[in-house]
Amino acid sequence: MQILIVGGSGGIGFAMVHEVLNAFPTAEVHATYHRHRPIFQNRRLQWHALDVTKEPEIEALSERFIEVDWLVNCVGMLHTSVKGPEKNLAATDSEFFLANLSVNTLPTLMLAKYFTPKLKRAEAPKLATISAKVGSIEDNRLGGWYSYRASKAALNMLLKTIAIEWQRTLKHGTVVALHPGTTDTALSQPFQANVPEGKLFEPTRVARDLVELLKTMTPKQSGGFLAYDGQELPW
Ligand SMILES: NC(=O)c1ccc[n+]([C@@H]2O[C@H](COP(=O)([O-])OP(=O)(O)OC[C@H]3O[C@@H](n4cnc5c(N)ncnc54)[C@H](OP(=O)(O)O)[C@@H]3O)[C@@H](O)[C@H]2O)c1
Repeated sequence: MQILIVGGSGGIGFAMVHEVLNAFPTAEVHATYHRHRPIFQNRRLQWHALDVTKEPEIEALSERFIEVDWLVNCVGMLHTSVKGPEKNLAATDSEFFLANLSVNTLPTLMLAKYFTPKLKRAEAPKLATISAKVGSIEDNRLGGWYSYRASKAALNMLLKTIAIEWQRTLKHGTVVALHPGTTDTALSQPFQANVPEGKLFEPTRVARDLVELLKTMTPKQSGGFLAYDGQELPW
């Protein structure tokens, strides 16, 4: 079994790398990092450098594989070192909006483009991206966070559309948008003060939940938007 964790150096991604190594004792695990290669090593783990905003890098990575069983994209951004998610319209700017799209949205389309032929060769292929409940249009009651919300809503549309194409061309495959719950990582760190008691999850717990969920998913559930506990979320 070949598993590729994109964004394996992030809070959730790194925990996913550990979890799949444990859950699948014979699997070959590949993981990508962006700025810093993690020091963690395992004889079944291979690290690859990848900037997901660069299509040629995604294409080059795909050429290193013959077959992939699971591809899980754990890359994402909510804030940069100089700018956080917008509280109101006055805080929006086109550069930050486009940065959100280029990190949170477009990479899944490009990963699907180059890896679908590799996933097609697997027995039960799974393509998953970590989305976010705040990308749900129906669930949006608080407003704000324009760029992040829009990038995740667009990501969800891409995953749904990929799932529809796979129903014709890759019937044995499963595509899913996953919500991890609020997780204690660098991404959520500036916003953890208001998280209710018991609702801030450790990355290891989230990774366990998400891998368990992915294991049980079948093509019948393809095209869904699911939370870590299996709950179906509104688009
Ligand atoms: N944490 C939460 O509460 C929460 C809640 C809902 C959804 N999510 C989603 O869960 C996913 C994982 O987030 P996290 O909490 O684990 O955040 P994180 O710890 O900040 O990890 C994000 C990862 O994305 C990578 N990344 C950013 N830009 C990249 C690029 N251009 N190319 C390649 N990698 C890039 C980062 O690498 P570098 O640091 O090297 O750039 C980092 O490894 C995200 O999609 C996020 O939106 C998280």
